Amino acid sequence: MSTKVDFSKVGFADFQRMAGDANLSRYEKIGFPDTYRKGHEQDIFGDICAKLTNLSRTEMRVLDIGPGCSDLPQYLIDLCAQQGHVLALMDGEEMLAQLPDSDAVSKIDAIFPDCPDFLAQERGCIDVILCYSVLHYVFDEGCVFKFLDHALDLLSPGGQMLIGDIPNVSKRKRFFASDTGIAFHRAFMKTDESPDVQFNVPDTGHIDDAVMFGLVQRARNAGFDAYIVPQGENLPMANRREDILIVRS
Ligand SMILES: C[S@@+](CC[C@H](N)C(=O)[O-])C[C@H]1O[C@@H](n2cnc3c(N)ncnc32)[C@H](O)[C@@H]1O
Repeated sequence: MSTKVDFSKVGFADFQRMAGDANLSRYEKIGFPDTYRKGHEQDIFGDICAKLTNLSRTEMRVLDIGPGCSDLPQYLIDLCAQQGHVLALMDGEEMLAQLPDSDAVSKIDAIFPDCPDFLAQERGCIDVILCYSVLHYVFDEGCVFKFLDHALDLLSPGGQMLIGDIPNVSKRKRFFASDTGIAFHRAFMKTDESPDVQFNVPDTGHIDDAVMFGLVQRARNAGFDAYIVPQGENLPMANRREDILIVRS
């Protein structure tokens, strides 16, 4: 693991600073040690495309909230070009500057949902929203329900949103309290000790089952279909992260 950045403490402003830091790899710029993403992003993108089936259609309007600057947004840019989609990438200016420019891609320097013009222009018009490995930063710095409400407002009829790669501390605890999780921990940490898992304690700053189910219920109450879905087993953090898929009928 890199010692250059404490990835547990980064926020939106840190991401913008990290984006321009030539000492960081493209994975470290988005808050991941190389081992968590290098060699895995093609599988991650495959998992995303299997859930966001509108991406395989043509001439869709696509929004990526928090694309970062590793290979994932490049895969999305290439797919959108191939399928004739219109793609909007929303992130900080420094992060967006790491990504190539093209006519079919608009870059929006904003922290979602603080983008009133975009929200007004695109209301009910977006066929695909991807928000991958971003929600925990919103949870830390903003309001996930406000974030969700504004994102739902953008979806077109038949539109799909994937809030992906959500670190759910409840799922993490279940895993590390299991025989499989204990064996995983011992092998990974090269120790005979069991992981320290504490139930019935406040998990300040962490998304848990209550937040996951709250988001799903909130979306359903707003008239959308919403599901908590697992990540493919081949993904690097599938044992402690999961996704929320939302569909407008
Ligand atoms: C962990 S990185 C994930 C990047 C990319 N989605 C991926 O999974 O490879 C989080 C990214 O989200 C951006 N971000 C965080 N909060 C955001 C918000 N409210 N609106 C737009 N971008 C945001 C950060 O600047 C950063 O680029």
